[in-house]
Amino acid sequence: MADIETITSLAKRRGFAFQSSDIYGGLGSVWDYGPLGVEMKNNLKRAWWKAVVYERDDMVGLDSGILMNPLVWKYSGHEATFHDPLVDCRKCKARLRADKIEGKCSECGSTDLTEPRQFNLMFRTTIGPVEDQSGLAYLRPETAQGIFVNFKNILDSTNRKLPFGVAQIGKAFRNEITPGNFIFRTREFEQMEIEFFVKPPHILKPGEPTDEEWHERWIAERLNWYLSLGMRAENLRKYEQPRAELAHYAKRTVDLQYRFFPEREDEEKQWDELEGIANRTDFDLKAHSRKPVDEEGKRLNPDSTADLTYFDHETNQHVFAYVIEPSVGVDRPLLAFLMDAYHEEEVRGEKRVVLRLHRDLAPIKVAVLPLAKNKEGIVSLAKDIKSRLQRTGMMRAVYDDTAGIGKLYRRQDEVGTPLCLTVDHQSLEDNQVTIRDRDTMLQERVPVSDIETAIQKRLGLIGD
Ligand code: GAP
Repeated sequence: MADIETITSLAKRRGFAFQSSDIYGGLGSVWDYGPLGVEMKNNLKRAWWKAVVYERDDMVGLDSGILMNPLVWKYSGHEATFHDPLVDCRKCKARLRADKIEGKCSECGSTDLTEPRQFNLMFRTTIGPVEDQSGLAYLRPETAQGIFVNFKNILDSTNRKLPFGVAQIGKAFRNEITPGNFIFRTREFEQMEIEFFVKPPHILKPGEPTDEEWHERWIAERLNWYLSLGMRAENLRKYEQPRAELAHYAKRTVDLQYRFFPEREDEEKQWDELEGIANRTDFDLKAHSRKPVDEEGKRLNPDSTADLTYFDHETNQHVFAYVIEPSVGVDRPLLAFLMDAYHEEEVRGEKRVVLRLHRDLAPIKVAVLPLAKNKEGIVSLAKDIKSRLQRTGMMRAVYDDTAGIGKLYRRQDEVGTPLCLTVDHQSLEDNQVTIRDRDTMLQERVPVSDIETAIQKRLGLIGD
């Protein structure tokens, strides 16, 4: 595996990610995904969607807006509680998270710090031409609320019965005080979130899984997803959030942590959050519903127009569903998969850098390489093969003739391309080409006539 610094350098050099607005000195903690980064990001999102929507019977998708009525954030609790405690160092003027330092400035070591103040992480903007409080809106800090406020729409339009879940992928924004570590913590990022609605405990029939059991199932499911995509088990672990760490809505949260900081001496400090899997109970649906009243009969949410209860035909009751929420960014697993896949090895006395990315995640699936770029027959056969692969619509294929074959292989190894396909002089005679496997470096001759099938099989896109 590699540390974040090594990956940051590779990412910039090979076009995975660039600092935002680089030519103007950059913008803090926003990253742009380059030609390879966008492919890998799309692959990651597709793999997630496939696993949590297409391969299940109990999930649907949603794509809600980034901008929402600010009342959403009032009733979700984010206006009141989505804060970080902030202190200023009087000596070097650094602004720091009070909960991340131990009484002294992490920049200069001074203990001359201001009292902690609460700092809301939501970005504000205004809607419409007048920049006053009436047009206030927030850029969403999580995609989850879009699912909660659409609960009734989804229920009414799909006739789903509990348990069922909603998946969503989209941008989220947080005005993080101490962002950094490349794409680990940024101010603009993408989230992949599931809100999985289950029966509340009081209407369960004997033998039906409880919210707590569903929570366990999702923890196992999500852990296995990373392993199925080749993440090494020794770099992944579960972490039970202590009560003091729990978000305002959570009854229990288990994080999946990745060894993001292998260079740190203290083993415990090597780990950080990759994904959080929370049991949010009925907190959110209740908070956004017009129905619940307090002891004096006063509505808890006088602004909502919707009753977000679920009618359970078996018990003839209106109930609030409980929610299990597996929530992950796109950027953080992308970083983890890159770190995990990175290998340096020696091949015939030379250093080889290879990203052993799972073939579903690799940004380029196949590179078509002519052995001689000045030989017309070889070049045109290689280009023809590339466009045939391209026409399958199933993969990113590239053609490269800008270096000798050894260098071309190394280039593809470094960005994790699972297959290289070489066209040589012999190909013109026997109509066969060489497929080289990234990991084993083994080479195999295959006929050009059926090249699409040969490649698709090796990429697992069609069965044997
Ligand atoms: N809806 C629940 C929620 O948003 P969270 O633990 O605050 O929970 C979920 O965020 C996931 O989103 C994290 O596990 C992480 O993968 C990602 N994430 C959160 N803040 C991030 C940031 N500033 N930069 C990159 N990813 C972030």
